[in-house]
Amino acid sequence: MKTTSIVKVSKAEKSKLEQIDFDNLVFGKTFTDHMFVCDYKDGKWQTPEILPYQALTIEPSAKVFHYGQAVFEGMKAYKDEAGKVWLFRPEENFQRINKSSKRLNIPEFEEDFFFEGLNELLKLDKDWIRSGQEAGNALYIRPFVIATQPGVMASPATEYKFMIICCPVQAYYTKDVRVKIADYYSRAANGGFGAAKAAGNYAGQFYPTKLVQEEGFDQVIWTDDTSHEYLEEAGTMNIFFRVNDKLITCPTSDRILDGVTRKSVIAMAEKLGIEVEVRKVTVKEIIEAAENGSLKESFGSGTAAVISPIGTIGYKDKTYDLVKPEDCYSAQIKKGILDIQYNAAEDPFGWRYEV
Ligand code: COI
Repeated sequence: MKTTSIVKVSKAEKSKLEQIDFDNLVFGKTFTDHMFVCDYKDGKWQTPEILPYQALTIEPSAKVFHYGQAVFEGMKAYKDEAGKVWLFRPEENFQRINKSSKRLNIPEFEEDFFFEGLNELLKLDKDWIRSGQEAGNALYIRPFVIATQPGVMASPATEYKFMIICCPVQAYYTKDVRVKIADYYSRAANGGFGAAKAAGNYAGQFYPTKLVQEEGFDQVIWTDDTSHEYLEEAGTMNIFFRVNDKLITCPTSDRILDGVTRKSVIAMAEKLGIEVEVRKVTVKEIIEAAENGSLKESFGSGTAAVISPIGTIGYKDKTYDLVKPEDCYSAQIKKGILDIQYNAAEDPFGWRYEV
């Protein structure tokens, strides 16, 4: 066992690396050799540990199973052509998991535990990260917190686990995404916890998403819960619309996730000289723009999805197909962001962090 200044490290006896087919990965199914674990009890976070990736033993009455007290993050590590490993704006994810935790009455995590744990984990499992910007090769990092205290009384737990697990991935969407605009179900409500990366926000989407998948779509574009007149986000991605030459996206709110890729897209688009408008976006204007040809493109942004072009938008019983223009904004913005993530270009924003 090795002990860093903060984190206790127990290495796996044998790596699983040789068994992995890196060219045929299914997103989120293959996990690296190690995981980070830190328990909260007696009113404080205990000594963080890195352990071989393994199953957990948790009481069936643990509150996470009954009341869904759970939040998570999505981050990625990238390897450049020289073999160096990089994270992208990791402090944003750290701050957001604590913001999500606060909303679900989970104790906030400690910054030095998070960064030292993550660094150690990535150093141990760095061979799981493949270079390859074209293929979207990266290590998807999933920090999460769950309420482990046993007992089914509906009250916040006094015991938690903060964990980080990692999986090698490629692109989340391999084709242009087909989305359907919600006109009945909602993802989040005013005063609710839509802005938190809470497990329940995703569970609540599964059924309406299954219904649109039966109609041949991949995802729902969520609208506001009261009028269904305003476009919000796509559940796994924030969304952007290009109307003529202007890029439009809705502002974040307590119903919408404050995406790290979303804010990076806005900054990169502005750097590329693209006019960006952050304002409420109505279903009516986007459908009209799709009908009169001024809707030139649309795309989603997220850590897993990166920048995924939207090929088809469905609304009620109509569908609108989008043909990418030659000066495709999503391709330019995606390249600008990926070049920074993979250390293939200067980073004027200071987003890159070497592991
Ligand atoms: C991410 O992009 O990291 C997400 O959390 C989306 C996910 C549910 C795969």
